[in-house]
Amino acid sequence: MAQHTNQNSTHPGRRICVLGGGGFLGSHLVARLLRTSPYQIEVVDTHFDRLSMTSPRLVKTQSSVTEQGVIDRVTQESDVVFSLTALCNPSLYNTQPLQVIEENYTHLVPLVELCSSRQRRLIHFSTCEVYGKNPPSHNPQQTMSEQTSPLLLGPVHKERWTYSCAKQLLERLIWAHGTHRQLPFTIVRPFNVIGPQMDYLPGIDGEGVPRVLACFIKALLSSEPLQLVNGGVNRRSFIYIDDFVDAIVQILERPRRCQGEIINIGNPANDVSIKELAQHMVEHYRSRYPDHPHPSMASVSERQFYGPGYDDVEQRIPDITKAQQLLDWEPTTSLRAMLPPILEDYINRYGLSDSR
Ligand code: UGA
Repeated sequence: MAQHTNQNSTHPGRRICVLGGGGFLGSHLVARLLRTSPYQIEVVDTHFDRLSMTSPRLVKTQSSVTEQGVIDRVTQESDVVFSLTALCNPSLYNTQPLQVIEENYTHLVPLVELCSSRQRRLIHFSTCEVYGKNPPSHNPQQTMSEQTSPLLLGPVHKERWTYSCAKQLLERLIWAHGTHRQLPFTIVRPFNVIGPQMDYLPGIDGEGVPRVLACFIKALLSSEPLQLVNGGVNRRSFIYIDDFVDAIVQILERPRRCQGEIINIGNPANDVSIKELAQHMVEHYRSRYPDHPHPSMASVSERQFYGPGYDDVEQRIPDITKAQQLLDWEPTTSLRAMLPPILEDYINRYGLSDSR
């Protein structure tokens, strides 16, 4: 653990800046902080579609983090900076790798340096993708641990790992500033957080391929087959956004305990194959619309779906022992319980397509 003695504590009147707070994770976090904390919050993002709320304690700054002076100002004015800006959609890793490296590493180097020189607490959102692939000896119960797991990437021409590598390098930069320059920091590694208002729906309010939840919802709402990449055999552990935000609030409120720590936040109880996820979603859709035709599924190769350079991890289960100990926290929402409110949110916002 990196050591730091001049520790900021979070208290009323303190100012928190959430970079990228208009996105999926950030908008849920900001809404919670406004409801339950006394802090002044500035959100910096290029769009606020998911953050329509207003409050005298909320300032929305519409800007990119690369805009001249923005990082300089917020690291002067804020006591705590959450860093959530990222290009985190797997379909972009092998199609826009240069942008992936810039947005997930290069653009954030000045933030780390300024938080370090000004001794501002940095809570950085990294990713479970830093663990990369499963080791050759992997067994189905094996979890990914912050303290002991290797970070294993594929070869360079498998551009899928560009994102993981960029995020890992930023983690190492933050770690080095913490250890050698007393940067107060906590790194969070989210594991497949899902919830209402997650990604756009392709062909409706965005183009390309969003993450799996939105792909499946789009298919359900427009009566298209749910596409299972390589048959949907790979596995993910899904955590509900509310459980995730509970953990982040604890991290904010426990600066000393979380100082210099890297913390997995996920739900190991919700480890399912992507095919099982599809089946759960179809089941809920069928109970919601019993008169509609049964949604179908189709297997598709990774190359057909993502193009060359894609690669995948077979299974990703978080070891959350550290989070449980440091945060007195436990994720409680099962996959079955979280899917209905998520689907309702999308149905309410988008409705069913006319093609039905
Ligand atoms: C992604 C991002 O890389 C990370 O930024 C992020 O941390 C992580 O999600 C997360 O949400 O925590 P990944 O889990 O691969 O990683 O993202 P998805 O696009 O949701 O894919 C999950 C699995 O579903 C993959 O095996 C993918 O091939 C498959 N998939 C995706 C389908 O079978 N069908 C689809 O329509 C879309």
